[in-house]
Amino acid sequence: MSDTNIGCTCGGVAGGDKKTGKEPYYITTPIYYPSSNLHIGHTYCTVMADAMARFKRLEGYDVRFLTGTDEHGQKIQKLADAAGVSPQAYVDNVVEGIKELWATMEISYDDFIRTTEERHVKRVQQIFQKMYEKGDIYKGAYEGLYCTPCEAFWTETQAVDGKCPDCGRPVEKASEEAYFFRLSKYQDRLIDLFENNPQFLQPESRRNEMLAFVRQGLDDLCISRTSFDWGIPVPIDEKHVIYVWLDALSNYATALGYPETTDGLYAKYWPANVHLVGKEIVRFHTVIWPAMLMSLEEPLPKQVLGHGWILLEGGKMSKSRGNCVDPVKLIDRYGVDALKYFLLREYTFGQDGVFTNEVMLNRMNYDLANDLGNLVSRTVSMIEKYDGAEVPAAGESAGPDEELKAIATKAADKVSAQMDKFSFSLALEEIWILIRRTNKYIDETMPWALAKDPAQKARLDTVMHNLAEALRIVSILIYPFMHTTSEKIRQQLGIAEAPIRWEDAFVFEGTTGAHVKKGAAIFPRMDVEKELEALKEMQERQAQEAQQAEQEAKQSAAPSAQADGEPAAENSENEGEAPEIPYKAPIDYEDFAKIDFRVGKVLSCQRHPKADKLLVFQIKIGSDVRQIISGVAEFFTPEECVGKKVLVVANLKPRKLRGLESNGMLMFADNGGRFEFMTTIARDGEIVS
Ligand code: MSP
Repeated sequence: MSDTNIGCTCGGVAGGDKKTGKEPYYITTPIYYPSSNLHIGHTYCTVMADAMARFKRLEGYDVRFLTGTDEHGQKIQKLADAAGVSPQAYVDNVVEGIKELWATMEISYDDFIRTTEERHVKRVQQIFQKMYEKGDIYKGAYEGLYCTPCEAFWTETQAVDGKCPDCGRPVEKASEEAYFFRLSKYQDRLIDLFENNPQFLQPESRRNEMLAFVRQGLDDLCISRTSFDWGIPVPIDEKHVIYVWLDALSNYATALGYPETTDGLYAKYWPANVHLVGKEIVRFHTVIWPAMLMSLEEPLPKQVLGHGWILLEGGKMSKSRGNCVDPVKLIDRYGVDALKYFLLREYTFGQDGVFTNEVMLNRMNYDLANDLGNLVSRTVSMIEKYDGAEVPAAGESAGPDEELKAIATKAADKVSAQMDKFSFSLALEEIWILIRRTNKYIDETMPWALAKDPAQKARLDTVMHNLAEALRIVSILIYPFMHTTSEKIRQQLGIAEAPIRWEDAFVFEGTTGAHVKKGAAIFPRMDVEKELEALKEMQERQAQEAQQAEQEAKQSAAPSAQADGEPAAENSENEGEAPEIPYKAPIDYEDFAKIDFRVGKVLSCQRHPKADKLLVFQIKIGSDVRQIISGVAEFFTPEECVGKKVLVVANLKPRKLRGLESNGMLMFADNGGRFEFMTTIARDGEIVS
C-alpha cells in the first residue's frame, strides 16, 4: 500500500473513513513566504503537522490539514522587481517548488491555500468590510520614522541610532494616511484569554511572554499600506492594500469558506484545533488573530503551539550565507522517512535545537539501521529459516514473553499520551522502547540455540510468533511518522493487505499464518565518516553557489530594503547577520576578457513607470544609443544623471525589467553606502584607468 496521495484524507488507513462521523480535527501550519526555496527549518513544522494529521486520522478523527503560501507584501514585490518579473510570476514559480517539496515529502495536506487565489482575496476583503462595519477599523495617520530610499517606516525601537536599520541612512519623522484596527479595544479580553485558558498558548513560557506583552498595553494596529501595491486592495479605498499579516492570518478561515459560506467546511472544522507556528510568529497568532476573531464575533482557535527553531552551530540558516540545509538533497541521499524520523525524534517541541550532519547521521544509523532495520531483518530471516517463511501460532508463554507482550500492547496508549502533548520525540521514544525490548528478547531467547534442539520446536515457534507480533505492532505505531517504512515492514511480514488500524495495536495476535518475505534492508547501515565527508563537500559547493548568486542579484538589483510591515527582528532571515560581502570565486583572465566595457554618456534619464527603484537611461556609446535600466533611483534623481559619463557593460544579454527592455549594465561604485558613477578615462574605446 502506498500513500503518496497529496490531498487525500486517509491514505488507505482504515479507521479514518469509518469514523468520519466522529470528531473533526483541524490542524494548520503557517503559510510560508514564497520568497525563495524552503530549507529544512521550514519543513520541521510541516512534518510535525503531517505526523499529527496522520496520527489523528489513524485514531479515527475526521481530520482537515491546511498549509499554503503567504504571497503578498513589499518583500515579494522587491524580489520580483530584482528578478525582473511580475510578483505573480515570481510567486508562481516559487510556489511550484514548494508544492513539489511537499509532494516529495509525502505531506498529506487536505488543502493548500495561496493568498493570491481569488477565493482568499475576496474573502479577506469581506473580512475587512465586516470589521469596518463593526466600527473596529478607522482611518488615521501612520506616524513613524521614514527612510525615503527604502520607502519603509520604522518604529523608534527598530531604528538604529536614528538611522534606517536596513541601509543606514538617516530616517525622518513622517506620517501617512492609513487604516487602523482597534486592537486596544480587545486588550482586556486577550488578558482574560491568556489567564483563564492556559491551554490556548503553549509552551507555558510563551504564554507568560504574551501575557506580559498584552499587559503592557496594546496600540491600535495599522492595517493598510499605500507605499506599494502588491497586496489585497482595501475594499473601501483602493489606493490602500491590506496589511500582509491581516491578509495572511485570515487564511485559516478563508480556506474553509469564511465569511462567504459559513455552513459546510467552516461549520464543520472551525474553530481550529491547533495552529502550529514558529516561536517568532506566536504574537501574530495569539494577539492579532484572536482580536480579529473577537471583532468578527467568531470562535477562537482552541490552541496555538509555538515551536522552536532549528539552528546551525553558527546560528541561523541564511540564504545569503548559503548555509541553508536543503531537505531535498538529504532526502535524495537518505530517504523521506529517515529525514522525517530525524526531525521528529531529535528536537524537543517548543525548544530550539541545533542541526549537524553528525547528529543526523548517528540518529539514522543507531535508531533506524541498527535498532529497527536489524529487528526487521533478523525477524524475517529467522521465520524464513526456522518456519518455512510462515508465521507460526504461539504456544505457551515462558521467560520474557509476558513482559514483551505487555510492553507491546501498552505502547499505543503511551504514544497517544505523548502525542496529546505534541511530544513527538517522546512518542517515538515509546516506540523505540518496544523495538529495543524486542531486540533484547532475541538475545535472551537465543532462537539459533533453540533451533538446534528439535525438542524445543514449540518454544522456537512461540518466540517467532512473538517477534512477528511485536513487529506488527511497531508497524502500526510508526505509521503516522514513517508510513512508507511501515508499509515496507508489513510487506516483509506478509500482512501488507491488512488495513492499518490503531485498535490492532492493542492485541497480540494478527500475524499467524502470514507468509514473510525478506526484502532489501529498510535502512542500510552507513559509514558515517564517509557520509560526513560527502555532505561537507556538497554543502560547501552549495554555499559557494549561493554566495555567487547573491552577489549577482545584488549587482543587478537595487539593494533590498526591509519590507514595510515585516519587522526586521521578526521576519528577516538575515537577522543579526554582519553585512559582509564575501569574495566570489576567482575567475580566469579569459573570462574577464569576455566582458565588453565601454564608456557611455547619459543622454536622458527617467523614472521607471512601474518600479520605484528603477531608472531608465538612454545611453550613447559612440553612434549607438541604447536603453539601460538600473536600480539606482534611490541614489540619484534623473536630472542629476543627464550628461554624466558612465562605464557600461555593453555585451550583457538584453532582459526585461518590469516590462521594459534593458540592454547592458551601468557600473556604479558603492563608496561606503554612497553610490557614485564609475568614471573612467577612455582612449579609443579602451579603458586605461
Ligand atoms: N508568512 C509568515 C507566516 C504567516 S502565517 C499566517 C511567515 N512565513 S515564513 O516563511 O517566514 O516562516 C514560516 C514558518 O517557518 C514560521 O513558523 C517559522 O518559524 C518557520 N521557520 C523558519 N525558519 C525556521 C527554522 N530554522 N526552524 C524552524 N522553523 C523555522 O512567517
